[in-house]
Amino acid sequence: MDRFKIEGGRKLEGTVRISGAKNAALPAMAACLLTNEPVHLENIPHVRDIITMAKLLAHMRCRVGSPDIPPSSFTIQAETVSHAEAPYELVKTMRASVLTLGPLVARFGYARVSLPGGCAIGARPIDIHIQALEKLGAEITMEHGYVEARTKRLRGAEFRFPKITVTGTENVLTAAVLAEGETILENSALEPEVTDLAELLIKMGAKIEGVGTSTLRVHGVDRLHGATHTIIPDRIEAGTFLIAGAITGGELLLTNCEPAHLAAVIEKLKACGIDIRCEGGGKLRVRAAKKLVAGDVTTEEYPSFATDMQAQFMALATQANGVSHIRETIFENRFLHGSEMARMGANIVMDGNLAVVAGPTPLSGAPVTASDLRASAGLVLAGLVADNTTWIDRVYHIDRGYEQIEEKLRSVGARIERVTQP
Ligand code: EPU
Repeated sequence: MDRFKIEGGRKLEGTVRISGAKNAALPAMAACLLTNEPVHLENIPHVRDIITMAKLLAHMRCRVGSPDIPPSSFTIQAETVSHAEAPYELVKTMRASVLTLGPLVARFGYARVSLPGGCAIGARPIDIHIQALEKLGAEITMEHGYVEARTKRLRGAEFRFPKITVTGTENVLTAAVLAEGETILENSALEPEVTDLAELLIKMGAKIEGVGTSTLRVHGVDRLHGATHTIIPDRIEAGTFLIAGAITGGELLLTNCEPAHLAAVIEKLKACGIDIRCEGGGKLRVRAAKKLVAGDVTTEEYPSFATDMQAQFMALATQANGVSHIRETIFENRFLHGSEMARMGANIVMDGNLAVVAGPTPLSGAPVTASDLRASAGLVLAGLVADNTTWIDRVYHIDRGYEQIEEKLRSVGARIERVTQP
C-alpha cells in the first residue's frame, strides 16, 4: 500500500495545469452507453475512478479506446452491450458506477447494478435515483444486493427531487433523454458537472431545455448519436491548489481552470485575506495573504461552497488568525480529517456537523491516515505546512481523484514522495 512522505515548510511557487473534472468525466463516460455510435471525450483525468469506469464499460462489452498513456482522451463505443450489469467488485471501489443504471435501462430496457454501500463520509443511499426511475416507468426490484430495473420503454414524467442530488440528477437525466415524451425534473442539481453532462447529451442529439437551472425539461428522442466533447476543468483540484499556494505562503499560477465554477471558494478565500486574481484565458493566480484571517464556511449545493472543498479549507483554517466555524450540511460524517489534523497539533473541536478551528497553530509532522478522497487532500495541505515529516497512509483514496498530485506539487517546490510498501 502506498504512503506519502511530506517534508513540510516549503513555499510553493510556479505553474500548475489543472486536469479535467473526474466528476464530470464519470457521467460522460456512462452516457456513452446511450448510443451505438462512438463518443469521443477529451480532457479526461488519469485517475483511478476513471480507470474503474473504463473497466466497468469494458465489462459491459463496450469498446473503450484511449490513444494516450496516461489517457487524456477516450473513444467509447457501446455498439452492443451484452452484459448490462455493474458488478459488486467494481461498485464497491467506486459508487459512481451507479451512473450506468439510467442509461442502461433507457437504451436496453434492463439494468442490474450492485447497490453501493455506505462510505466513510456517510450512508449515501440511492433511494431518490430509484424513485425517479420508477416515475419514468422502470420496474425496480432489489435482491441479493443488486438493483434490477426493467421496462419496455421509459415514459416521460414529472419528478421533483425531494433533496438535491448530483449523481441522482445525472442518472435520471441520462434516462429521460431516451424516454417517450416529455420529462420535467424539478429541484435538479445545478453543479457544473450536471451542466457539462447536459451539454454532451445535447451534442448527442438529446433535447434538453433549462440547462444550468433547477428545472430540466427533456423531450425524449428515439435514438442518440456519436459526439466529441471536452470535459470541464476540475474545480475541486483548482480549489485545492489555490489553498496549497496560500497555505504555504507562496504564489501559484493555475492554468486550464474555469474561475466561474469556483466563485464561492474564491470569495471565501479572498475574505480570509488571500490574493486571488483571474488572469483571463482560464488562468488564476494565487498569492499568500499578508495576514491570513479565520473564516466561516457552510457547505451547500452549488453555487455555494462545495463539500468537496471542506477538508482543504479546514487545513487552511488551522493556519488562520482567529476562530473559523465550518459547518458540513451535505454529508453526515465528513470530519474524519479533523481528528487527524488535531493529531498534528491543530486546535479543532467537532460537535455534530460543526467544526470550530482556532488558529494559527503550528502543525507538527505525524503519521496520519486518509479516510476519503478529499480528506486526503486536506491532510496533504496540512503536511505541506507541518514541521518535520508527515506520513499519510492509504493514499489510494487520493489516487481516485487527483491526477499526479505528488508530481504536480513537486514541480512547484513541495517535498513529497510516494513510498510503496511491499
Ligand atoms: N442522497 C440521498 N438519496 C439519494 C441520493 C442522495 O439521501 O438517492 C443524499 C446523500 O446521502 C447526501 C446528499 O443527498 O447526503 C447529497 O448527495 P449527492 O447525491 O448530491 O452526492 P453524490 O451524487 O453521491 C456527488 C459527487 C461527490 C460530492 C457530492 C456533493 C460524483 C461522482 N460524486 O456525489 O464527490 O461530494 O456530489 O457535491 O459526482 C468526491 O469527488 O470526493 C465526492 C465525494
